[in-house]
Order: sequence, then structure tokens, then C-alpha cells
Amino acid sequence: MFVFPTSIISARGTRHRLGSLIAARGWSKVLMVVDPGIVGGDFVQDIIASLLKSSIETDIFDAFESNPRVDSANEAGRMAADFSASAILAVGGGSALDLGKAAAILATNAGTILDYIGDSKFAHDPLPLYAIPTTCGSGSEASRVAVLSDPVAKSKVTIKGDGLFPDYAIMDADALSTLPPNLIAWTGMDALTHAVEALIARPATPQSDELAIQASRIIRDHLVTATKDDGQAQEKLMAASTMAGQAFTLSDVGAVHCLSESLGGFIDCPHGLTNAILLAPVLQYYGEVVAPKLALLGKDTLGGTSIDPAVAARSVIRAIENLIRTLEIPPFSTLKVPSTKFEAIAEMAVANGSNSSNQKTMEVQDYLAILNQLS
Ligand SMILES: [Fe+2]
Repeated sequence: MFVFPTSIISARGTRHRLGSLIAARGWSKVLMVVDPGIVGGDFVQDIIASLLKSSIETDIFDAFESNPRVDSANEAGRMAADFSASAILAVGGGSALDLGKAAAILATNAGTILDYIGDSKFAHDPLPLYAIPTTCGSGSEASRVAVLSDPVAKSKVTIKGDGLFPDYAIMDADALSTLPPNLIAWTGMDALTHAVEALIARPATPQSDELAIQASRIIRDHLVTATKDDGQAQEKLMAASTMAGQAFTLSDVGAVHCLSESLGGFIDCPHGLTNAILLAPVLQYYGEVVAPKLALLGKDTLGGTSIDPAVAARSVIRAIENLIRTLEIPPFSTLKVPSTKFEAIAEMAVANGSNSSNQKTMEVQDYLAILNQLS
């Protein structure tokens, strides 16, 4: 079933119109969930000014981590309920958007966010959500998923449901103008990972394939330039990120995300960075099982033009490795993952909800083999 209920507004400067857009829906109290690193910056201040101008009451939740924890989600949910918010406005990277989704659930449903792990576990519709990405990778503005960290279980938890599609995705590329080059590179690689994994995952459909291929092409053409403060390239990258988010929503992600999310439960590392490090090695490990699909990126997207799928797939992997070098993505060793944790990390990757979407069945020994190869 092709479900995509999010309205996307893509235009620079849309932040200045947010107040009137929200007031037109009749919502008068908004909880803003804002990435703490940008809360004092011009982009967020412009949004606040716009809301004030339309007499919309606001409260701000910005006390959360770069890999947001379940207790922060519970706190944001409590704040939304206490404030009687009529909508949530999430501004930031994937962390802020996912936390906004969690707050939207808890504002209308009892309990803690851990009660809603899984698919469609909430009984009441979450509050309406405006998602305003300020990075170019998570795709959360186009997805029905929120991922949080559970420090007690040392794992990431996933909450899913059609009610988690944001009502509006506001794609205002001015948000990227102050993003450091390494964050553009890492979040852009997260978007590429979404596209590639959506393409090769078992649940892929012709629609998700087209979105994934097109997103990969845009990322190939614009990611490196986007890191060099090129506003047009950044705008394209933002669009590709949303398309890649739609692609994995229709299909799924796979072993890269299973391993990356598992690593994120043990060490506090940026999600986009771990995906960037893991993407090529995981594709290499899959081998010929994914070659026919991966070869679709070889024709005129990432790699060469061979009609032999295995050769084309290898050229795609080489192209990704070249991109990683150009973007100066650091090696796996910089993550400082203790090898004593590899077994637990591999076990957690197998337990990930997306592990069954892999074309190649991935067991603990498969993930261990990748980790050992990288270390
Ligand atoms: Fe991701």
C-alpha cells in the first residue's frame, strides 16, 4: 500500500510564514521541540517571531541529547500535555524530529514512550506535527518511524505507526546555511544509505526503487558541493533526503542500519557517521545476492556501465568508497568500539526489526565478521 499523508512545502523562507500556516489550521498553542545547538540561532528565532506575530502561544523543549533518550521523550511528552499543546513543531536533525514524534504520541496517550515500542501500539492519534529538518539526511520528515536511545537496555528503540507521519514537512533550505561541512557530509551519507538500503531491501517496490535511484543520483551530483557552502546543492540534497526517506518508508532499511543503530546503543556516535563508515563494507559483505539491484545504480548513477550485474555492483561499491574518501569520513577505529562488545552489538543487530528485510539472511556471525573485518 502506498501511503504518504505528509504535505511537503519546499521553499526557502517558509519559516517566516509558519505562524499564518499554523493559525489557519486553528491551532493556538504549539510546543516547539528544538535541537539545543540551534535554539538561539537566527533560523529558530525567525520561526518564533512568525508564531508570535500570529498570536500563537509557544513553549520550547530543548533539553535533549544528540541521540535522544527515552526519558527525554517522556519529558517532552509531559511538557506537551501540561502545556495543552494543540500541535508539535519539531526543528532540527533526526533527533529533534524523532523526539517531536514521541512527544506527539505522549501528549494524547498515557504511559511512557517504552509502552509504544513496535508498530501502531498507540490507541489515540498523536498531536499534529510540523517537521522542519535542519540537516539533510534523516528523512524523518517523510517517515512513520521514531528512533530513540534506551540507556538502560543499551539499545535503540523504534516506534512506528502511520500516525507518526508528520502532517507537514517544511523544507526551508536556509536552515542548512550554518551547518558545518562534516555534518552535511555525515547526514548526506545517511540519506544515501537510506536510498541504497531501500533499493536492495526485500520489501522494495517499483515506486521505492525509483525514489531510491533518483535520490542516489541527486546525492551523487550534489553532496560534495553541498559541503562547500553551495546553497543550490544544499537545496537539492535536502530534497534527496526526503525522497530517500520516502523510499525506506515504502521499503525498509537493512544491515547497515541494524548495525549502526546497535552501535549507537553502546557508544554515543552520530548516526550518519556510522552509516557512512559501514555502507561500503556491508554492501561488500552481501556479495552477489544484492548485485542485480545494486547494479541499477551502476547504469548512470553511482558507478560504471557494465551489463554484468556483479561487475556493475562492484563499481557502485567503489564509487561509494571514493565518495567516502572525498568526504574525508574517518575510519571505524575512530569510533573506539571495544572489541569485547562486538558479540553483544551483533546480537542486537540481529534483533533489529529491519534485519528480516535483508536480502541475505544476516546472523550474529555475519555481523561479527563485518565488525572484525573493520577493526
Ligand atoms: Fe538513517
